[in-house]
Amino acid sequence: MSNSIFTKDGTAQGVAKQRLIETMAGPDKRVINDPYADRFIMGAGLMKLMGHKLNVWLAEKFAVGFHEHIISRTRFIDDLIEKSATEGVEQYVILGAGYDSRAHRLELPSSLRIFEVDQPEVQDRKRSKLPKGLPNSENVTYVPVDFSHQSLTERLLDSGFDKTKSTVFTLEGVTQYITKEAFNSTMEEMAMLSQEASSIFVLSFVNELLNNKPEDCFGKGYLDPEKKANLIKDLSAKAAGEPWISFYSIEELEGLLAQNGYSITENVTLEDLNSLYFGPVDRALSEDQIFKLEHFVIAKTKIE
Ligand SMILES: C[S@@+](CC[C@H](N)C(=O)[O-])C[C@H]1O[C@@H](n2cnc3c(N)ncnc32)[C@H](O)[C@@H]1O
Repeated sequence: MSNSIFTKDGTAQGVAKQRLIETMAGPDKRVINDPYADRFIMGAGLMKLMGHKLNVWLAEKFAVGFHEHIISRTRFIDDLIEKSATEGVEQYVILGAGYDSRAHRLELPSSLRIFEVDQPEVQDRKRSKLPKGLPNSENVTYVPVDFSHQSLTERLLDSGFDKTKSTVFTLEGVTQYITKEAFNSTMEEMAMLSQEASSIFVLSFVNELLNNKPEDCFGKGYLDPEKKANLIKDLSAKAAGEPWISFYSIEELEGLLAQNGYSITENVTLEDLNSLYFGPVDRALSEDQIFKLEHFVIAKTKIE
């Protein structure tokens, strides 16, 4: 594998790693199940030998609550996708899909058309690692786009996206890596693509308080919040090769969404999801373990 691919998929591997760790918790203790995550991770064999507990312990050495934060984000979006599919949504566009295997690991109706959008190098590696004959494969279309400088609209329409069908768009763990201009133009394109049907947009974003008031991005009593904030940003920039460049206040995000016709219906963090997801498996975190620098947002276009 060339260095350039490794640099481009560093964060995608990082997220898949947390899904592998969670999957190893076992059926009665896990919050999500991703049977494909191990295929994408360098060093997956060693991780599997170490098992769930040791891997979570290691993740805690980096930042307490980090693992649970990623897993709650994934589960929150899984739940929304399953609910939307049950309610009859017709298309699902996964922006910055990385090594997400939601298309195959969730039970989704065969009528749901799924479009996976990411950089071509990441998609090529993903496709080379996935087994043949996966559930739902025939409903998934890969759409290679670098949305920092390529048009999403043209690529999606060329790939069979139907403007008259209801759509869910997700942007999970991506807004921090792209410029605000790229984020806004992606939203403008989504809004144009959804003029004739309803659309739901689910996204995550990093609160700008991480730079200005880091203690507010963690639970009360969290150890060394400022040091952790810098460590997290450094890890993404230096180890994964993808620096966090865009941070938002809730008001700013709300304004950008509104400009594109979306209103927020939910805005949560791990703090809100902790007891819901980790309580039933006896793994709820205490207040001083909460990692809440990223928000998970559901926004919808108004249906006239
Ligand atoms: C942190 S990963 C998240 C992956 C996936 N959403 C998940 O949760 O597993 C960020 C993803 O955004 C993609 N990405 C970053 N910048 C991009 C760009 N300009 N155009 C397309 N994809 C991009 C990366 O390739 C990577 O797969």
